[in-house]
Amino acid sequence: MRLLSLLIVPVLLFSCSPKDGDSSQSAADKGADYDAITQKVDSLLAIMTLEEKVGQMNQYNGFWNVTGPTPQDGDAADKYEHLRSGLVGSMLNVRGVENVRAVQKIAVEETRLGIPLIIGFDVIHGYETMSPIPLAESASWDMEAIKRSAEVAAAEAAAAGINWTFAPMVDISRDARWGRVMEGGGEDPYLGSMIAAARVKGFQGDDLSAVNTIAACAKHFAGYGFSESGKDYNTVDVGTSTLYNQIFPPFQASIDAGVRTFMNSFNELNGVPATGNAFLQRDILKGEWKFDGFVVSDWGSIAEMIPHGYAKDNREAAMHAANAGSDMDMESYAYVAELVSLVEDGKVKESLIDDAVGRILRVKYELGLFDDPYRYCDETREKEVIGNPAFQEDVLDMAKKSIVLLKNEGGILPLKPSGQRIAVIGQLAAENNSPLGSWRIASKDSTAVSLLDGLAAYPGNQITYAKGVDVTVGNTAFVFETEINETDNSDFSSAISAARGADVVIMALGEHGFQSGEGRSRAEIGLPGLQQELLEAVYAVNKNIVLVLHNGRPLTIPWAAENLPAIVEAWQLGSQSGNAIAQVLYGDYNPSGKLPMSFPRSVGQVPIYYNHKNTGRPVSPGENLVFWSHYNDESNDPLYAFGHGLSYSSFDYANLQVENNYASQGSIKVSVDVTNSSDVDGKEVVQLYIHDMHASVTRPVMELKGFDLSSIGAGETKTVEFELTDAELGFYNNDGVWIVEPGMFKLFVGTSSTETMSSQFEI
Ligand code: NOJ
Repeated sequence: MRLLSLLIVPVLLFSCSPKDGDSSQSAADKGADYDAITQKVDSLLAIMTLEEKVGQMNQYNGFWNVTGPTPQDGDAADKYEHLRSGLVGSMLNVRGVENVRAVQKIAVEETRLGIPLIIGFDVIHGYETMSPIPLAESASWDMEAIKRSAEVAAAEAAAAGINWTFAPMVDISRDARWGRVMEGGGEDPYLGSMIAAARVKGFQGDDLSAVNTIAACAKHFAGYGFSESGKDYNTVDVGTSTLYNQIFPPFQASIDAGVRTFMNSFNELNGVPATGNAFLQRDILKGEWKFDGFVVSDWGSIAEMIPHGYAKDNREAAMHAANAGSDMDMESYAYVAELVSLVEDGKVKESLIDDAVGRILRVKYELGLFDDPYRYCDETREKEVIGNPAFQEDVLDMAKKSIVLLKNEGGILPLKPSGQRIAVIGQLAAENNSPLGSWRIASKDSTAVSLLDGLAAYPGNQITYAKGVDVTVGNTAFVFETEINETDNSDFSSAISAARGADVVIMALGEHGFQSGEGRSRAEIGLPGLQQELLEAVYAVNKNIVLVLHNGRPLTIPWAAENLPAIVEAWQLGSQSGNAIAQVLYGDYNPSGKLPMSFPRSVGQVPIYYNHKNTGRPVSPGENLVFWSHYNDESNDPLYAFGHGLSYSSFDYANLQVENNYASQGSIKVSVDVTNSSDVDGKEVVQLYIHDMHASVTRPVMELKGFDLSSIGAGETKTVEFELTDAELGFYNNDGVWIVEPGMFKLFVGTSSTETMSSQFEI
């Protein structure tokens, strides 16, 4: 097949604005400020001892909120001693102005060179005021709202003395068993890239040294979302095409958006742990992509190269990591212990140390820490900003936009405002801790608005609450393992009686907030514990059930999908959870969320994703013989597809037009008329997908290549336009080169990945 064009390293291709031009971080076009910082970094490097340089590459946990296993050979006394001797460049999990000031003061006043620390923290979906979990936010497909959510998180974190977040997690994942899907943007690289860019811009703003912005960190580089069998930290084995076309794009988009740091990853890739992987960090990230920020290891991931079977001891692990381009050691104690002698023994070149330290110092300069090491340490600002009531409006807005209406039949929703007897059932309906979700280290426990509290704002109906069943046992604080309630059904009877006399039953079921997140992989992803049994028992007496799902991942709920009239996907929505859900249930907010991840029918379908390949034996209608790619006991289709989400409005698609100007202008113009045929104003995510029908590397059956979140008034018709260029029409071949090949493309435009109008064009 003839190549139409051959573009090398188009870092811009999947970015928010793929036509803006090459934004790879090459020094040439960085401007005067960049050069000024380069000079300062070089001058500082010139007077640093090797020990002081290695110190900059060492990051310690701050003794509070330990988020992973600590190595045996480090203790608090050693850490303080190292801090005083200039052997620490960064700390994580130190928070609050007083604490940050205390450690910063040691770094600045007691060490020879007084180099300030960079203070990192997992600000994942809020600091104290909590936004929805990232997967939920991703369901909004609303980049402005996602950016705003990150801005709020950054403002609060910066006011607490923090200047660096370990977010966004931009790992694409197709496996709902993996607990960390809650922390990402879902299964699609195009949507995931947009979200990555929005989050980076929200955290970092236009000026990294401003007191309400913090450095972002694109993580985990790379492949962590493809852990085999969805088990956290497990082996990853992906092909080149998946690596380049699915996994890399959100990382590239983060660089385009200006992200200043990367975190590497716990997993191995092709037998080489990501932390010691020179292909990933040197060749791709710092080589082809010209990333000029720094890379931090994941927690203990340098030392973990020993159990991986890649290094025989900490010294060898430090050598591999430093040589491979891992700039900062998070809690492995490997660099501080080994790097100086590794350089002296000629195992690691000092020029590589200089490169790593130069990157770290650059980000510290950009944050303004050299001008004023205490610029994020202002007690007055801390009091004013953290928990500022104004932020509640922002997180409420984000929460409403994150809700996905999965099913709504028979007009059960929106609820009537008065005259109804409503039974509310489920432990999660009364929960004000679980909606804060996983990764909420600095939030105050039990501060979310529960669903019951939210419903109380609508006094026209009579509410009866019954817990029905506990999801888990004893979840009140930050717990590492959740015990699922498999036995106690003693509250079933009160739930059944409450349901019996009700006009509508709202059942809040799903996962507790601590059942997803890091280390929370699940082999069964149905409703945990006795909840399915409760649901069916209630259904036996009252079929008018609205299921409000709380979860950090897609769940297998085929029975509910078949039998219940309405299902509302309410994730873990953060501080304003209950208010957001109540406003959607009552129709004060018309939902517009769309799933960023497919919902499987059964766990055996996982990994299931819309942008799969066709195979040589796809389903062919009417030829249902045994020898084609399918299950004998389950459909190939997801329960709810990527991009699915209903509204109280109804949208009709018509008049799909394709204007092929590829030969003359290099673009395909697409337009479609979308009519809101209801009497309710609404918002619709109009989605565009393509399928490159024959290519030198097989292409997915569909790939999202554009979407438009449109407000469309009742009765109004809106013409939505898209433009496809090489940035959307190409793909990475197996040499990692972006190519656009001539041939036929299918085009799909519609309300989800499964409900589309189609056309085709040729380039
Ligand atoms: C381990 C996690 O994988 C990473 O995402 C996080 O930022 C660090 N721990 C620090 O808490």
